[in-house]
Amino acid sequence: MKQLKSTTSLTITAIGVLATAVLVISCATVKRVVAPPPIIPGAKFVGMDQCTACHESIVKNFKLTQHSQLEISGEGDRVGFAGGCESCHGPGSLHVDAGGGRGKFIVNPKKEPESCFQCHLDKKAEFHLQYHHPLIEGKMSCTSCHDPHGANINTPKGAFVARVNAQCAQCHREQTKPHVFEHEAVREGCVTCHQVHGSINPKMLTERDNNLCLKCHAQVAGLSGQVFIGQMPHAGFGPSQFLQRGGCYSAGCHTAVHGSDLNSHLRY
Ligand code: HEC
Ligand code: HEC
Ligand code: HEC
Ligand code: HEC
Ligand code: HEC
Ligand code: HEC
Ligand code: HEC
Repeated sequence: MKQLKSTTSLTITAIGVLATAVLVISCATVKRVVAPPPIIPGAKFVGMDQCTACHESIVKNFKLTQHSQLEISGEGDRVGFAGGCESCHGPGSLHVDAGGGRGKFIVNPKKEPESCFQCHLDKKAEFHLQYHHPLIEGKMSCTSCHDPHGANINTPKGAFVARVNAQCAQCHREQTKPHVFEHEAVREGCVTCHQVHGSINPKMLTERDNNLCLKCHAQVAGLSGQVFIGQMPHAGFGPSQFLQRGGCYSAGCHTAVHGSDLNSHLRY
């Protein structure tokens, strides 16, 4: 826990310094006006206990999550800020005084990911890489994949992304359906090959071209200059000049990288 707290104060200090830079980036790349939450004009921080009366189950679940452990001593506009619900939703006094309600003086990060970016600046950068999930574009949100209040608390990842492949299955049926010939790599999780927030590589891959596959499938030099991959000669002397044809999955060989129903060597 100690470690977590020190990370946080570091992060928060950095926000002060970077706030202007963040705004510049968002104005240049996003076509709407982005106010940096959690600042809600005129509102003060009231603490998590004030939310219990109306959002009891959320408060109860939330107490078990990583984010509830953050203790942040605010500066300037953030004086009195003690973390908890208001770290993402902004100061709650006006919302509470108004008796709550949608769109009533409270930030909903589903529509405003800036609320998460304040602390996860690196994620903002990832979503701006050339190949990324369309979150900045407003087509999805952090909560498409993360449960912010931690309903699935019994998972190793602190309730976030409980089962990685299941999260992706909501939207990507083709890649997540069962296959007669499965690719074991997929069982390890989509994130073994995809950098899911964003990547410099097409299809958000972690590595480019053959490098992706060779991470796990070693090339072994055989006699007379042959190169073996998984028991099969793939290059060198003889008829199997596979590597000369191009990429492992782009040259028509192992096109069914997510699994195949037809061929154990992962072909369609
Ligand atoms: C890590 C950031 C974060 C923290 C901390 C947090 N929330 Fe949320 N909250 C979210 C996000 C993201 C959503 C949008 C969820 C969605 O997609 O529907 C949300 C949505 C909500 C909603 C609206 C739910 C709905 O049905 O639309 C309520 C109410 C709420 N939060 C209350 C709380 C309370 C109370 C706490 C403290 C116990 C809290 N939140 C702490 C991120 C957070
Ligand atoms: C007097 C009751 C009351 C209190 C106290 C209260 N809320 Fe709410 N809040 C509501 C109601 C009612 C809604 C409308 C949505 C719903 O019914 O769940 C709401 C909605 C929200 C939403 C979603 C807003 C949106 O635009 O989608 C968030 C986030 C939220 N509350 C956070 C909080 C936080 C954080 C606190 C504590 C600081 C808090 N609320 C205290 C009654 C309350
Ligand atoms: C006040 C700062 C703050 C805000 C706001 C915030 N986070 Fe975090 N978050 C942290 C810290 C600190 C950690 C723990 C250290 C780490 O892993 O970076 C963390 C961890 C996480 C993790 C990783 C959990 C794990 O098990 O590794 C996820 C996912 C996450 N946050 C998502 C979000 C999302 C989504 C939002 C917005 C709805 C959000 N955070 C808002 C500070 C924040
Ligand atoms: C398309 C699904 C998806 C979306 C959308 C998404 N995430 Fe993630 N996120 C993941 C997955 C999957 C992991 C686990 C990555 C891993 O284990 O390598 C993760 C991990 C994280 C982590 C912890 C590990 C790390 O890389 O630091 C943080 C923090 C985080 N996400 C924040 C966010 C924030 C903030 C948003 C919204 C701005 C967001 N994520 C949107 C899928 C998503
Ligand atoms: C809420 C729906 C949703 C979820 C959940 C989701 N995605 Fe996506 N994904 C999309 C959308 C929308 C696109 C953009 C498609 C486009 O641009 O045509 C996309 C694009 C992709 C692409 C790039 C496709 C291309 O043609 O470049 C990959 C790879 C991908 N997602 C993997 C994942 C993984 C892995 C997960 C789970 C961690 C995941 N997605 C979760 C909606 C989702
Ligand atoms: C072994 C590495 C690997 C794993 C694991 C993996 N993928 Fe992929 N994925 C790829 C490669 C390589 C491509 C690009 C294929 C191409 O260009 O023909 C790709 C492409 C995609 C695309 C784009 C499809 C299209 O038609 O353009 C989506 C969506 C996707 N993957 C989702 C997922 C999901 C969801 C998972 C987890 C169930 C997953 N991937 C696991 C390697 C992998
Ligand atoms: C995370 C590690 C990992 C990555 C990355 C990976 N694989 Fe695999 N792959 C495996 C494992 C484990 C097996 C099953 C054991 C075996 O046959 O080597 C497998 C099996 C295969 C098979 C079936 C072997 C056979 O009998 O013909 C093919 C084909 C294959 N992978 C191709 C690829 C391609 C193409 C890529 C790149 C897109 C790739 N793999 C990336 C781990 C991985």
